[in-house]
Amino acid sequence: MTYHEYDEPHADLRELISRIDKSGELVRVSGVDIDLELGTLVELIAHHGGEGGPAVLFEDVVGAPSGHRLMSGATNSANRLALTLGLPRPGHPMDVVRSYRDRMKTHEPIPPEYVDDGPILENVLRDDEVDVTALGAPTLHELDGGPYIGTDDAVVMADPDDGWVNVGTYRVQVHGPDRVGLWTSPGKQGRQIRDKYFAQGKPCPVLISCGHDPLLFLASGNEIRYGLSEYDYAGGHRGRPFEVVRSELHGLPMPARAELVLEGELYPGDLAPEGPFGEFTGYYAGGRSDQPVVRVRRIYHRTDPIMTVASPIRPPSNFSYSKCVMKAGMIWDEVERAGLAGVTGVWCHEAGAARMFNVIAIRQAYAGHARQAGLLAASCQSGSYLGRFVVVVDDDIDPANTFDVLWAMSTRCDPAEDIEIVRGAWSGPLDPRLPAGVNRNSRAVVSAVRPFERIAEFPPVAEASPELRARVADKFAAVLDGLAGVKEGRR
Ligand SMILES: Cc1cc2nc3c(=O)[nH]c(=O)nc-3n(C[C@H](O)[C@H](O)[C@H](O)COP(=O)(O)O)c2cc1C
Repeated sequence: MTYHEYDEPHADLRELISRIDKSGELVRVSGVDIDLELGTLVELIAHHGGEGGPAVLFEDVVGAPSGHRLMSGATNSANRLALTLGLPRPGHPMDVVRSYRDRMKTHEPIPPEYVDDGPILENVLRDDEVDVTALGAPTLHELDGGPYIGTDDAVVMADPDDGWVNVGTYRVQVHGPDRVGLWTSPGKQGRQIRDKYFAQGKPCPVLISCGHDPLLFLASGNEIRYGLSEYDYAGGHRGRPFEVVRSELHGLPMPARAELVLEGELYPGDLAPEGPFGEFTGYYAGGRSDQPVVRVRRIYHRTDPIMTVASPIRPPSNFSYSKCVMKAGMIWDEVERAGLAGVTGVWCHEAGAARMFNVIAIRQAYAGHARQAGLLAASCQSGSYLGRFVVVVDDDIDPANTFDVLWAMSTRCDPAEDIEIVRGAWSGPLDPRLPAGVNRNSRAVVSAVRPFERIAEFPPVAEASPELRARVADKFAAVLDGLAGVKEGRR
C-alpha cells in the first residue's frame, strides 16, 4: 500500500504538516491575535477564491500561551485531502471522490491499538491545575458568544450499554476554567449516547481532542454508520491501527499522538447558555440556548501543542472544500452499497455547505433508475442530515460543474413531473429556514435526466463532435491559445 507519494501513513498532525509543506501548500503566519483577527484572516483566505486555499499554521499567536500554535485548513484541497487519506495524488478533484469510493470497496475497519505511553502524556494538568481559559481558544467571529476551544475537534464517548466508542465533531465553548459547553444536534450519535447516560441518571464521560491527525477529523466530522467507531474507520484508511492511550479518569481511548485533550463529564441537568456561534450554512440560526456543560478535570497536551481550527462561516470556509469531496465519496459509496448500479460521479457543492445541494450523475439503465438514485442519495446516512436538494443528472453532465448542472436542470427536468418532495426529513436547529423547535425539513429530489423512455429520441445536443472539435482546435491553436478554457473544450 502506498500513501499518496509515501510508503508509510503519516504518524500524526506534525508529520502531515511537514508533508503539506513539502507539497508547497503551507503558509506560516505570525503575530495574529486570537481574538477575531485569526478567524477573520481564515475567512479572507477561504473567500479568496480557488480550491480551498492553502493550509495555514499560526505561530507566535497574540493571546495564546508561548509556543502554542493553531492549524487551519489541513484537509481543504484535493491534494491535501488525498495526502490525509493516503490516496493517490489527484489530477482533478473528482479523482479523490473516485479514489475514495474505490478504497471503500476493500476498506476494512481496524480497531485502535492501546499503548501505555505517547506524546499526549508529555503534560498532564489535574483538578486544580486545570484552566481551559489559559489555553488560547480563539473567538472566531464578531457575533460569537465567546471563545471556542473545540471546532475542528474530536469528541470521544463510549456507549453505556455495549461500550462502542463514538467520535464526533461537536463545537465546544469555553465557559470557565473547568467548564466548557458541548452542542450536539438532535440525532447525532454523540447526542444519542449522552441521552442514554442521562436516561440512566448517570454522568456521561467525555474526551475532547482539540488537535489531532486530520484523518480523525475527516472521520469524526462526517456521518459514519451507527456502531462503527470512527477510530476503526480511520484505522482502515491508514491500513494500521490508530495508537490510543487510556485516559486517567474514565479509561476512554485518546489518540496517543494527539496535541491537546480535555477530559471530564457531562451531568444531567447541568446546563449553561451556549452560543451563538457562526454556522456552516453561513448564518446564526441556532442562536443561544441552554446546553450541557462538561466539567473538565484533566488537560493532556504535547509540549507546544497545535490546536486544529475549523471556522464555520458563509461558505466557502476553511473546511467546506474537504467536506464537499469527502461527502461526495461517502454518498457514492453508500448508494452503491445499497445496491445501485451506474453511478458515474457525485458532488456536494460548497455553496450548499456540502450538504444542501448534492448532485449525483448516473448512466441510466432502466425506468425509475434516476428517482431511485436521488432518493438513496437524499436519505443514506451521509446524505441525510440537513439536506435540501439532490439533483440527478445523466453521465454526460459533470456533477461538479455548476453550469452543466443548471443546464441539465433547465432542459431535462419538467418541474411538475420530475421534482419529488420528501417531507419530515432529518434536520436541526442550524437549518436557517426552519422555525425554532422544528427539526425536520423537506427535500427536493430533482430528476434532471433525459426521460428514460425518450432517451433515444431526445433532441441531440447542439455541439460539435469531439473529433471535429479536436481537429479544429488543433488547426486554429494560435487563435484559441489566448482564450482560457476554450481549448479544453468548454461547452
Ligand atoms: C467543523 C465542524 C463542526 C461541526 N460542529 C457540530 C456541532 O457543533 N454539533 C453537531 O451536532 N454537529 C456538528 N458537526 C457535524 C458532525 O460532526 C457530524 O454530523 C458527525 O457525523 C457527528 O458525528 P456522529 O455521526 O458520530 O454523531 C460539525 C462538523 C464539522 C465538520
